[in-house]
Amino acid sequence: MAATADHSTTGANAPAYYVSTPIYYVNDRPHLGHAYTTVAGDVLTRWHRQRGEKVWYLTGTDEHGQKIMRTAEANGVSPQEWCDKLVEEAWKPLWEHLEIANDDFIRTTQQRHTDRVQEFVQDLYDKGEIYKGGYSGPYCVGCEEFKLPAELLDGATEDEKLCSVHKRPVEWLEEENYFFRLSAYGPKLLEFYAENPDFIQPASARNEVLRFVEQDLKDLSISRSTFNWGVPLPWDEKHVLYVWVDALQNYITAAGYGSDPERFAELWPASVHLVGKDILRFHAVIWPAMLMAAGLPLPKRVVANGWLMVGGEKMSKSNLTGIAPTDLTSHFGVDAYRYYFLRAIPFGTDGSFSWEDFTARYTSELANDFGNLASRVAAMVGKYFEGVLPAATAAGEAEQAVADGLRTAAEVADLKIGEELDFAGGIAAIFEFVKQVNGYLTEQEPWKVAKDDSEEGRARLATILYTAAEALRGTAVLLNPLMPSTSEKLWASLGAAEGLGALSAQTVATVADWGRLPAGATVTKGDILFPRLEEKSAS
Ligand code: MSP
Repeated sequence: MAATADHSTTGANAPAYYVSTPIYYVNDRPHLGHAYTTVAGDVLTRWHRQRGEKVWYLTGTDEHGQKIMRTAEANGVSPQEWCDKLVEEAWKPLWEHLEIANDDFIRTTQQRHTDRVQEFVQDLYDKGEIYKGGYSGPYCVGCEEFKLPAELLDGATEDEKLCSVHKRPVEWLEEENYFFRLSAYGPKLLEFYAENPDFIQPASARNEVLRFVEQDLKDLSISRSTFNWGVPLPWDEKHVLYVWVDALQNYITAAGYGSDPERFAELWPASVHLVGKDILRFHAVIWPAMLMAAGLPLPKRVVANGWLMVGGEKMSKSNLTGIAPTDLTSHFGVDAYRYYFLRAIPFGTDGSFSWEDFTARYTSELANDFGNLASRVAAMVGKYFEGVLPAATAAGEAEQAVADGLRTAAEVADLKIGEELDFAGGIAAIFEFVKQVNGYLTEQEPWKVAKDDSEEGRARLATILYTAAEALRGTAVLLNPLMPSTSEKLWASLGAAEGLGALSAQTVATVADWGRLPAGATVTKGDILFPRLEEKSAS
């Protein structure tokens, strides 16, 4: 099992396992693409909590900049009103609905953020890291980013250029503004990447960043004076800070930078910044350079995930391809939703959502392989032992193989989910084990053994059912970070709380200790874990 020592809960200032999502623009409502990263981070942090580590999971919203300002104007409200509405009506409720267990939710319009951001940039200004200059270039409001010529596509007319991400015309921006001396950080960044080969993941993302930084970095324009929806520069209030510079700092302002040194020491540097591949450079180049300039430690890892695609393009609300997560959860349920995207799309690569694929996986993997196993075992303990879990008095090689299978599933899942962020691989290992348990029951045929009334027959039947129930006990713990409600139902059905306490108190380290579920537990059939989809949509 992977080492957990450096995040143990003992010691007042022991470092925490700190994971962040990007903070989302609130110009629109969330779609599947946003939920994908947030669910991944939730599973990762729940996994680490289940290891017994001190964990901190941060998400939030990015509320400044032109994009939000224009959306608010178009809707006839102030930017703050717009943000408040979207945060309260769309973003926070969705995370609650998807059972995201974040420890904090930062909004960049909160004073705890803006005050610290001003201090941070003032410090860089005082250190000579920021200077005044002029800039002109093509700007994409969708990305909130100046574009390089290579990042543009031809538009409808000779003069029109389109952003390659948004496929919409870029605007020509010409301004006097303040610059951060990013160009000075190229060699230091390259040195850092070389010394920390795991800093950027996956390898394709790392290579992209290396290629980018190996060319000459340009200084970064960090202020705007043509609109005012942003954090004012403390030394020149005619300017507001470029939205990305303000946004990146959420990772430290929420962690207590400048306000709570003790907490900050525990939380910073972050363990993992989860980001979409389109915002990798901000996190792997600009953010580290800003931290270097401020003399702060750099995050340990930046992990880029791929995009959910629709018709070969990135799913997005602006292209009208954004599907609301609730359109799927209302049909498949929240846990199946959490399962599907992490199981079906290898983290780091692009993937498409398909209703047919989701339906197929729901039916075969969740309902048939897993749900049926749970209900069959509970039904047999009910039928043959009046719902009281019998002891395994006649265990042999077949039972040992199941116990070994649980150990393997736990070890592989711990490494893949907890360390490598290979969610699909970790989930596959757990479901391999579920298959193994199904195979065990098929081979042992408890329904036939039940016909043998001899003492030996009863002992054999008891052993088979105990083994299957104990396998389900382990499965419930392993799946708890991914499908918390389902795992709770299974825990209740196994009567596990009586002897083992709450599911939330179980740890990854002990999941494979065979025989934890005490004989005598009250096993009940409970709700079907994954009801048939036809019945559900009809109801
Ligand atoms: N506000 C910035 C992030 C600032 S972090 C300091 C931003 N916001 S965003 O709302 O446009 O995007 C947030 C995240 O959602 C990004 O990581 C982006 O990659 C992700 N996704 C948006 N559409 C997506 C898909 N279709 N698929 C997967 N993720 C996608 O950028």
